[in-house]
Amino acid sequence: MTKERNNNISSALIGWYQQNKRDLPWRDTTDPYLIWISEIILQQTRVAQGLGYYLRFVGRFPDVKSLAEADEDEVLTYWQGLGYYSRARNLHFAAKTIVSNFSGSFPRNHAELVSLKGVGEYTAAAIVSFAYGDPYAVLDGNVYRVLSRLFAVEEPIDTGIGKKIFTQLAQELLDRHRPGVHNQAIMEFGALQCVPSNPDCAACPLQNNCSSLEKGLVAVLPKKQGKTKIQNRYFNYFDVRVGNSIFLKKRTENDIWKNLYELPLIETTEDTPLEEILKNQHFKEMFPEVQSLRIRGVPMEFKHVLSHRIIYAKFYRVDANGIPLKLLPGCIQIEREYLPNYAISRLVSRYFEKN
Ligand code: ADE
Repeated sequence: MTKERNNNISSALIGWYQQNKRDLPWRDTTDPYLIWISEIILQQTRVAQGLGYYLRFVGRFPDVKSLAEADEDEVLTYWQGLGYYSRARNLHFAAKTIVSNFSGSFPRNHAELVSLKGVGEYTAAAIVSFAYGDPYAVLDGNVYRVLSRLFAVEEPIDTGIGKKIFTQLAQELLDRHRPGVHNQAIMEFGALQCVPSNPDCAACPLQNNCSSLEKGLVAVLPKKQGKTKIQNRYFNYFDVRVGNSIFLKKRTENDIWKNLYELPLIETTEDTPLEEILKNQHFKEMFPEVQSLRIRGVPMEFKHVLSHRIIYAKFYRVDANGIPLKLLPGCIQIEREYLPNYAISRLVSRYFEKN
């Protein structure tokens, strides 16, 4: 890795970026708060989807103070549909930390940023380079791909050694005089030009600087050691109706969708028929008045695919009209029309789109 080659590559990336970059609102600001919000949204979300969420989020919470003072339930409604809800809970928690421990001023350096909940090396590097011009290289999925190809690195990116190698490479390549634009450029180049499958190398401005193109390795890089296992889960939801009202329960365990609302749920370890669920102790506790409920036998079924799990969900409609209702421990009863005030998972909203 000669210094000269690195300088050539960085200049070419920046030149390409200036010609090809997308016009995005978080690129027109040096406000670290706005950059932080955009980077958290974009961590597991594509720009096309994240843009609308970003605009609505910063429209309602334009600064740290407004976010810190908000109710978590409301913050989650602005995240509804984006997935990975811990991102929103952590943003809210960190905003409160900034108000209480940093007197409301945004942390000025990388170490302080990393101390905030939900802020890792990547996010801290993005914020300090974009907002303050500090020389920290970003390393995200796009950057791993670009680096692995430019330098033909066959070490898997998901191992301790791989992370170390790529972190060092990213830092060596960084243009320390313009780290913000360099970081934007390499990420945008990965997103638009050096794409995962079938990149158009013939049209690439770095084709003469790309070791994997020379060695015929573009299609197999970056390498990964192992895929994470997919877990199957079986959710049985009960949509209890009394007149126009429904029952919701907040998910409080450390699990997916923590602090979102959903319908009363019985989770089973495998696909289980209703007759079996009725005998389940957990079910009897949730529905002490079970004898008098009218449960529709045929549920509405959804297969819901998340990054590491597949949820097989059944929704049973339950008519509880005329039944004395102290029957749903831990639930709240709301009018169906007020559902939009509650943050719910995409799975539950798929169901309510039809009900
Ligand atoms: N993905 C992650 N960060 C990004 C940014 N700042 N602009 C566009 N896409 C991104």
